[in-house]
Amino acid sequence: MHTRLVAVAVLLVLLVPPPTHHAQERFSFFLASTPESVERLLTLAKLRDDDVVIDLGSGDGLIPLTAARMNPRLRGRGVDIDAKLVEESNQRAKREGVADRVHFELRNAFDTDLRDATVITMWLFPELMRLLRPIILERARPGTRVLTSTWELGSWQADEVNRDGVPIYLYVVPARVAGAWDWGLTVAGRRVSYSSVLEQRFQNIEGVARAGSRREVLQDTALRGNQIKFTLAITLNGLGLTQHQFEGKVNGDRIDGTVTVTPLDKSPTKLTWIARRAALSKYFAPTGLPSVPQKDPVR
Ligand SMILES: C[S@@+](CC[C@H](N)C(=O)[O-])C[C@H]1O[C@@H](n2cnc3c(N)ncnc32)[C@H](O)[C@@H]1O
Repeated sequence: MHTRLVAVAVLLVLLVPPPTHHAQERFSFFLASTPESVERLLTLAKLRDDDVVIDLGSGDGLIPLTAARMNPRLRGRGVDIDAKLVEESNQRAKREGVADRVHFELRNAFDTDLRDATVITMWLFPELMRLLRPIILERARPGTRVLTSTWELGSWQADEVNRDGVPIYLYVVPARVAGAWDWGLTVAGRRVSYSSVLEQRFQNIEGVARAGSRREVLQDTALRGNQIKFTLAITLNGLGLTQHQFEGKVNGDRIDGTVTVTPLDKSPTKLTWIARRAALSKYFAPTGLPSVPQKDPVR
């Protein structure tokens, strides 16, 4: 009986997965990036004077300290769960004379405030970087460049890759544009109302738009950070098939930009384009039956 109980207990230990709160500890060992890969990573980031570079899991501080050396104006921060490494990194920042611009904090990467980041770097186990993906997408501002070394961020497609050694991936945090957007334009003296619905997965967007009772699919869609672009060819009442090229900057619930409008047989005109997020899109409003030419009634 005792042997059977022990066997069941052993089996249970083998079958039941370890509690997930142990997962983070599995990922927490330190191994420094090579200076060569850090150089390539920061070169791909195209560092600017106004950058704030945050390294999640900063180890001995190599990435923020190298960034500070490469650009004498940018600011850097590192977070790590290893207190000794954080202390050593802050000492290195002092020795290198950059402690006024670069500092290191004892913090779990999941608890990091990313609102001021313009560049986020990571060289962690792939599962940990994947777990941090929603944290970055939730907290970092659109346009923030995210660079990972060796591994990708799951199915989020990189915007640029450097493969001159271990792969370095660059991602640009996209603005959130999914949902309904409305705007109006005066085209060749006629007021036209547009209602559009955008769908989004990371930086990939698709969309549809309605003008009057007609609907069309948006083409050539592109979203990089908060810069959005698409084209629309739709028939407008009294103007015929009209080409539109939209380009704008997403700012929360508003897009500001321009549209080049070319009605059939007319020259292009560039107009101001202001779109606003709509709680309930007119795209879904009843259309009514299309007017079909009637045949002679059958007698
Ligand atoms: C592979 S090292 C990378 C060090 C440095 N970024 C580099 O590229 O040289 C990973 C670092 O992440 C830290 N780390 C692991 N899990 C962490 C977590 N949840 N939050 C913060 N740091 C973490 C480890 O302590 C370790 O220093």
